[in-house]
Amino acid sequence: MKRILVTGGAGFIGANFVRHLLGHSDAMITVLDKLTYAGNRGSLHGLDEQRVQLVVGDIADANLVDELVSYHDAVVHFAAESHNDNSLLDPGRFVQTNVLGSFTLLEAVRRHDVRFHHVSTDEVYGDLALDDADRFTEDSAYNPSSPYSSTKAASDMLVRAWVRSYGIRATISNCSNNYGPFQHVEKFIPRQITNVLIGRRARLYGHGNNVRDWIHVEDHCRAVALILERGTIGSTYLVGADGERDNLSVLQLILARMECDPSDFDQVIDRPGHDLRYALDASLLRKELGWAPLHQDFASGLDQTIDWYREHRAWWEPLKAETERRYALREAI
Ligand code: NAD
Ligand code: DAU
Repeated sequence: MKRILVTGGAGFIGANFVRHLLGHSDAMITVLDKLTYAGNRGSLHGLDEQRVQLVVGDIADANLVDELVSYHDAVVHFAAESHNDNSLLDPGRFVQTNVLGSFTLLEAVRRHDVRFHHVSTDEVYGDLALDDADRFTEDSAYNPSSPYSSTKAASDMLVRAWVRSYGIRATISNCSNNYGPFQHVEKFIPRQITNVLIGRRARLYGHGNNVRDWIHVEDHCRAVALILERGTIGSTYLVGADGERDNLSVLQLILARMECDPSDFDQVIDRPGHDLRYALDASLLRKELGWAPLHQDFASGLDQTIDWYREHRAWWEPLKAETERRYALREAI
């Protein structure tokens, strides 16, 4: 594959994916990104300008998308409104970008017969009970809980329908919670790390019993690249690294690695409709494509992530005050 259009390539996972492609292929990359509050030019700084071009624009802009798609061999679609808390306050832009934006891309790849990979989330399956051993599989029923996850579920359904009805060459991946460099400070792990770095107390929603299935972002990117190259057209692959942990344990591990007292946090109002537990069975990806996570040790992945935020204050400091201002409004309710 020579020319790859990466939507949302200035966001957390997209920027890591662009780096992965640069290091592991000879692809020419166009990033299409609207640079919303979550997009960051700085995440693409220093990359080979001969191979990476940033186009600032909206995935729902049909003319722009049609033109860009027409001269690419593949589209890898990361762009989205991605944060559950925001979706509870302002669901409209989630419908606009995640549903109508994805629709716009699908129509363009249909017209130009371009390979499409859709990046989605385990949240489309809803949540699991805390006290059972069940995990999501590719056959689990869709049951999204939040405006964010319901718009991602809608976009998955569009992709499936475009494969079946129009024969587009598409695959879907549904991944669990990512952590690593370049993640916006609104998300759980970077929020707590940067709180500690600025001398603010960490914040835990409710009692912290909710479980997330953590995967290092580089392992997610490796999975997406493999699926793009060798995945079966029309298939869905779950991407997870058997990394289930409850939020309180993750927070206390962060505090311990940053040499803070394990009780140095505040419990704040819980998220309405807060999904209890996510857990993924990634057997299909492992067996069919031979994928396995390289980052198996969560504590050392966390140490690397903490170091990254320590060393890249200029990347996140401009985002921090506004993010915490929004959280303060939420916590005041
Ligand atoms: P992010 O919020 O960090 O980045 C999203 C990017 O999309 C930003 O650069 C933003 O500017 C861009 N964008 C938003 N609206 C746009 C629009 N209308 N047109 C063009 N660009 C637009 O998100 P992320 O965490 O990197 O997630 C990327 C994708 O991966 C999303 O589709 C998300 O649903 C999915 N996903 C995320 C996780 C996770 O743990 N973060 C896990 C599974 C799946
Ligand atoms: O499962 C995949 C999903 O993971 C992705 O689809 C989403 O794009 C991504 O944002 C993430 O969703 P979550 O809602 O799980 O991630 P978040 O980082 O917002 O929260 C993780 C957990 O931590 C969740 O149970 C809420 C809790 N939390 C979050 C914040 C910001 C806290 O306890 N305190 C906090 O300050």
